[in-house]
Amino acid sequence: MKRKDFPKKFEWGIASSAYQTEGAWNIDEKGPSIWDTFTNAKNFTEGNGNTATDFYHSYKEDILKIKDLNLSSFRFSISWSRIFPDGIGAPNPKGVAFYHAVIATCLEHKITPWVTLYHWDLPQKLEEKGGWTNREILHWFAHYVEFCSLEYGDKVKNWMVLNEPMSYVGLGYFLGEHAPGKTGLQNFLPAAHHTVLCQAIGGKILRKNNKNACIGTTFSCSQVTPKNILRRNLNAAKRLDALLNRFFIEPALGLGYPTESLPGLKKIEKYFKPGDEELMQFDFDFIGIQYYFRIVAHYSLFPPILFAKEIPATKRNVKTNTMGMEIYHKGLYKMLKKFSKYKGVKNIYITEAGTCLEDSLKNGTINDKERIKYFKKNFKQVLKAIDKGIKVKGYFIWTLVDNFEWAEGTKPRFGIIHNDFKTQERRFKRSALWFQKFLSKD
Ligand code: GAL
Repeated sequence: MKRKDFPKKFEWGIASSAYQTEGAWNIDEKGPSIWDTFTNAKNFTEGNGNTATDFYHSYKEDILKIKDLNLSSFRFSISWSRIFPDGIGAPNPKGVAFYHAVIATCLEHKITPWVTLYHWDLPQKLEEKGGWTNREILHWFAHYVEFCSLEYGDKVKNWMVLNEPMSYVGLGYFLGEHAPGKTGLQNFLPAAHHTVLCQAIGGKILRKNNKNACIGTTFSCSQVTPKNILRRNLNAAKRLDALLNRFFIEPALGLGYPTESLPGLKKIEKYFKPGDEELMQFDFDFIGIQYYFRIVAHYSLFPPILFAKEIPATKRNVKTNTMGMEIYHKGLYKMLKKFSKYKGVKNIYITEAGTCLEDSLKNGTINDKERIKYFKKNFKQVLKAIDKGIKVKGYFIWTLVDNFEWAEGTKPRFGIIHNDFKTQERRFKRSALWFQKFLSKD
């Protein structure tokens, strides 16, 4: 496989996020985020992101590595509470300066910055007022986006409003496995609805302030396969698909929530205010899809509302990564096809895809052959999609350096560069060297 097999303008990038990399959690007047609170709580056992990969101090070297790997784009997120320590109010000049420095370093090395406005690290002060469950977040978020778009808009063209709403609303406000650790439908439904509104509000503000901006937002997705063709299992898979793949994009496209497939979530309408159907919509220039695994589902009495359960990949005798996710490349093509079928979807970027493996150090190198295979197989699916006329415009590798993987801590290693968390020493894995060669233009 060669770079030349892809269209000339195909964007090759790397993706990361603020909480997983920056560290510097309490310096230079940064305010705490819900992830600082969550991981520093006594009952959290997987460490914390207080230092993470220390990107706050090593951004120059890391961006140079991106250049060295022949990648042309860098997707990173802004930490809301670094800019606004209390979530609202006056901006913190040091936080503002940090992102100017990151952007300037990218531009200096001809790396295109792709900025995500929200990658899960809500300011703790806002969570204390209810966070995503409080409708006031429409104003808090608008204030934050207004500021960022005016401050950085002359240097940044490509924006993503949210990162994977289903993940942070589902894991953070329903299952309680992620920050802020809330559970139940009474939290999930308002958090979901306010997220959908903010998704569109963010897009509209960017459009108003940045005429030439390329505006997107990102969605997690999983191919959902029924266990067999029994009707009850087919229906269970359909419900899971509506929740995992359709719930956050369809309202933006003017299709409303997919409650005909998920009648149990009709209660979300309780949180509607007049005009919300209109407010939920935004004409995105692109959508980002983030694909890691597929799901095999069957009917189950629990949980009610969904009446569906996943059969864990580890029980299905299939290939998995170290987080127990099934490695299933064909699902990437299926998802590209699925999302491209929406009339309102213009362009698609794969804004994250990668995998975590046992990356053991042998004779001074990490020979992650499996990761190279993983990417090659994924790229085949992308080429197939392009061949069928699907407008896939780029691929952002998850991720540059092994980082802090949320509730799993530093165990899962997703980077193409190895990190020693004690010394912050970076070491190119074999996959990084493969990318360097694959992407080289000579
Ligand atoms: C995504 C998330 C990333 C990263 C990745 C690997 O869902 O957006 O921040 O953690 O998963 O698991």
